[in-house]
Amino acid sequence: MSHAEDHEGTRRDFLYYATAGAGAVATGAAVWPLVNQMNPSADVQALASIRVDVSGLEPGTQLTVKFLGKPVFIRRRTQEEIDAANNVDVSTLPDPEARNPNIEEGAPATDPNRALANEEGSEEWLVMMGVCTHLGCVPLGDGAGDFGGWFCPCHGSHYDTAGRIRKGPAPENLPVPVARFEGTEIVLG
Ligand code: FES
Repeated sequence: MSHAEDHEGTRRDFLYYATAGAGAVATGAAVWPLVNQMNPSADVQALASIRVDVSGLEPGTQLTVKFLGKPVFIRRRTQEEIDAANNVDVSTLPDPEARNPNIEEGAPATDPNRALANEEGSEEWLVMMGVCTHLGCVPLGDGAGDFGGWFCPCHGSHYDTAGRIRKGPAPENLPVPVARFEGTEIVLG
C-alpha cells in the first residue's frame, strides 16, 4: 500500500474525534466493541504504522485513533494538566515505570518520560494505548476520574493527566506505543 493510500485510509476510517465533550467520549467508549466487530481488522492489522495529522488539535482536546485493532489516545494537554503531572512524587506511584518503548526500558514515570516530544520539545503531547491495564476496557477521558485524566468504569481505575495509574485495580500505567513526531504528524508504529 502506498503512503498516500495509507494516509487517506487513516483519515477516512480510523479517526474518531472526541473533542465534543465528555458525552462524546463516553459514547465512544461504550460503542467501541461494536465498532470493532463491524470492522474486521485484518487490513488494519497489516498496517505496520499509521500517520495521524494532529495540527487541528487544540490544547485540552484529544482524539482516538485505531491502530492494530486497538484504540490509541492522543491528547494535547493544557499547561495545568502538565503541571499536575509534574507535581507528583514518582516514587509514590503504584507503577513507577514510564512504560514507554521510545525511551530506555525501566525509566521512571516522570511526566517528560511519559509524553511524546514534538520537534520543539513540547511536553504537551500524550500518546497512549486506550486499553486499561486491569482487564482491557477502554477508559473514559477528557479529565475523567479523581485525578483529572482517565477513568475506567469497569472496576474503577483512575489514571492521572500523564496516564499513570493512581487508584483502583489496574496494575500498570497506560502503555505508550512506539511513536514519533514528523512535523505535525504523529507516526504510530
Ligand atoms: Fe479497567 Fe477493570 S478493566 S478497571
